[in-house]
Amino acid sequence: MSQKIASPKGKLGILMPGMGAVSTTFMAGVHAIRKGLGAPIGSLTQLGAIRLGKRTDNRSPKISDFVPLAGLDQLVFGGWDIFEDNAYESAMNASVLEPTLLAKIKPQLQKIKPMPAVFDKRYVRLIDGPNVKSKGNLMDKAEALMDDIKTFRKANACDRLVMIWTGSTEVFHKPAKVHQTMESFEQALVANDPNIAPSQVYAYAALMSGVPFANGAPNLTHDVPALLNLARDRELPVCGKDFKTGQTLMKTLIAPGLKARMLGCSGWFSTNILGNRDGEVLEDPGSFKSKEETKLSVLDTILQPQLYPMLYKDLYHAVRINYYPPRGDAKEGWDNIDIFGWLGYPMQIKIDFLCRDSILAAPIVLDLVLFLDLAQRAGMKGIQEWLSFYFKAPMTAPGLYAEHDIFIQLMKLKNTLRWMRGEDLITHLGLEYYD
Ligand SMILES: NC(=O)c1ccc[n+]([C@@H]2O[C@H](COP(=O)([O-])OP(=O)(O)OC[C@H]3O[C@@H](n4cnc5c(N)ncnc54)[C@H](O)[C@@H]3O)[C@@H](O)[C@H]2O)c1
Repeated sequence: MSQKIASPKGKLGILMPGMGAVSTTFMAGVHAIRKGLGAPIGSLTQLGAIRLGKRTDNRSPKISDFVPLAGLDQLVFGGWDIFEDNAYESAMNASVLEPTLLAKIKPQLQKIKPMPAVFDKRYVRLIDGPNVKSKGNLMDKAEALMDDIKTFRKANACDRLVMIWTGSTEVFHKPAKVHQTMESFEQALVANDPNIAPSQVYAYAALMSGVPFANGAPNLTHDVPALLNLARDRELPVCGKDFKTGQTLMKTLIAPGLKARMLGCSGWFSTNILGNRDGEVLEDPGSFKSKEETKLSVLDTILQPQLYPMLYKDLYHAVRINYYPPRGDAKEGWDNIDIFGWLGYPMQIKIDFLCRDSILAAPIVLDLVLFLDLAQRAGMKGIQEWLSFYFKAPMTAPGLYAEHDIFIQLMKLKNTLRWMRGEDLITHLGLEYYD
């Protein structure tokens, strides 16, 4: 039986706290694609197909024809930032996209002006800006964000909204008592409790306004009982954390392959140079710690040293990020992987990935907002584990380990879409072909 899914009619508003490199590359990209100036490469919702039924059925529609997704021409954009630059100026600063391309969509981008942010320097220590909400306590600021959301919805005649955190990485932060219940969380907002991070104020404002929320950074944000319960109570889908791009994408492509062939791994050293604002923020050990946690968790979960101690028990895994301004957004990531095979004989793999961070992240933002909107229209609420495919540190139900293997994640995503439409799930058993 297929799930009831409301039609994606009308405008879908995309709200982004943080209008930096990722966010502006995404918005500019959508405008450029609409004008026929480029193609949505890297986006599963725009390019991917899905096999249905048996292999002999020859049914592989495009995902966008199979499930009802909002179209690119239905999207409108808004955001908040501590800097006053509009989306055109910010995209020029980020220097990800060519000025000649940005010039062609300048009028559309110039109209996207950041609303004043909720900011706390204790959570992002290496940058500061003037465009902030300064009045009142955190509850007043949350209410101001809810007003912003309401005004945006009305001004743009949006049918539905989705919020996605594309702001800087906040310092590492553990769940505290104030994050446990809605009551303690709201009291903490009124009391300006230092345990509440700005990203949590945005997540609260979104959920209170009936808006699904995704987190593209590794911050704790809505991964706490109070906000997860709020999402369930309000019947809103949420997901996170930390877009899986660059080096971690490579890790989740290679590590499952090594494990599949029962090859051992004794060391994996990853280092990066990048020179964008994200790199600057990650110079702060507090913000880097948030990133390190999500980057390190990946290998352990994929390789399962508890099941395969001979192969992975002694794995030495280190991740370094170095701020190096000359490279801007064009990051370079090196991996040295020490592996071993038959009789323990050692081998090495070297990867030098000259990637473009925001070029890899923009299609992820697009897919996430379209799929979250789909989940909302299909009545799905709480953590959307089927969207793990896009994250370095997928959120899961308490007590459940996260699935990091990208191929299992993709199967889960596609099976969820099949389930939504009442199609058979694909198990790959395939015995019937040999009967
Ligand atoms: N680019 C990637 O491939 C990638 C991958 C995974 C995660 N991320 C994460 O995505 C986020 C965005 O990355 P980016 O490259 O666009 O960074 P960026 O520094 O270019 O943009 C982040 C923006 O957020 C703003 N900001 C910070 N705190 C804010 C607040 N409280 N409210 C509103 N705005 C705020 C900053 O002023 C900045 O303009 C970062 O947390 C990054 O770690 C990026």
